[in-house]
Amino acid sequence: MIATPLSLTQAENLVATLQRELDLAPPQTILQAAYQHFGSAAAIAFSGAEDVAILGLCRDFDLPLRAFFLDTGRLAPETLELAEAVREKLGFALEIYSPQAQAVQELVRAKGLFSFYRDGHGECCGVRKVEPLRRALAGTPAWLTGQRRDQSPATRAEVPIVQVDLAHSTPDAAVLKFNPLARWTSAQVWKYIRAADLPFNALHLRGYVSIGCAPCTRPVLPGQHEREGRWWWEDAQNKECGLHAAHK
Ligand code: ADX
Ligand code: SF4
Repeated sequence: MIATPLSLTQAENLVATLQRELDLAPPQTILQAAYQHFGSAAAIAFSGAEDVAILGLCRDFDLPLRAFFLDTGRLAPETLELAEAVREKLGFALEIYSPQAQAVQELVRAKGLFSFYRDGHGECCGVRKVEPLRRALAGTPAWLTGQRRDQSPATRAEVPIVQVDLAHSTPDAAVLKFNPLARWTSAQVWKYIRAADLPFNALHLRGYVSIGCAPCTRPVLPGQHEREGRWWWEDAQNKECGLHAAHK
C-alpha cells in the first residue's frame, strides 16, 4: 500500500503507470489495483446497477473497499430499497450522505421544489449531490465509480480507467478516480448481475435504464439511448450532474 496523501505530481506519475498496466485489464484487476494501492481507504460511489456489479466483484475477490451513497432526498423508493438490499445481501455498510438541510431549504423556499425544470439541473444537483460528494471524499485518496464509456456518447466516450480527479484534489492531497467498468457494456453488466444473482433496482422492470432522482428520470422506449431518460428537457451535452466534473 502506498503512503497517502499523494501530491498532484506523485498522483500523475502513479496514474500514468496504472493506465499502462490497466488499459486492457478486466474490472476485477482494476479493483485489485485500487485495493493494493489504497486499501480500505478507497471508496466506491454506489447508486445503481454498475455499482452493484462493482460491489459484487469486490465480494467475489475479497476486496473490502468502503462504499458511500448520496441520498439526495429526491430518489425513488425503489432506489432506496436497492441500497438497503445491498447492505443486507452484499454486507456492505453503505455510508449515507444527505444534503445540507440549510442549503436545501434556501433553494426550495426561493425557487420551489421543481426549479430544475425551469433553470436547469445544475443548482439543485449542486446542493443535493455535488456538495455531499465533497464531504464523502474528504480525506479519501481514491474513489471508484460505475461510469461506462457507452453510457453517453456525448459525455462519457473518453472515460479513462483511472484518472487524477482534479475537481477534488489539492496540490498536496490528490484524489484518484477509478472507473473499473469503463470498457464494459450495459449487456456485460447485466450478464454479471444475473449470473451472480445480485439485487437490482425494481424500476428496471418498468422500462427505466439509467436511474437518478425521481423527478429527473423517466423510462426510455426501445431503441432510445439510456441517457435520454435523464434530464430529458435538456440537451445531451448537459446530461451530467457535476459528480464527474473534470475540474473544480
Ligand atoms: S450521474 O452523474 O448522471 O448521476 P450516473 O447515474 O450515470 O451519474 O452514475 C454514474 C456513477 O456515478 C455511478 O455508477 C456511481 O458511481 C456515481 N453516482 C451517481 N449517483 C450517485 C449517488 N446518488 N451516490 C453515490 N454515487 C453516485
Ligand atoms: Fe435535483 Fe434532479 Fe439533480 Fe436530483 S437529479 S439533485 S432532483 S436536479
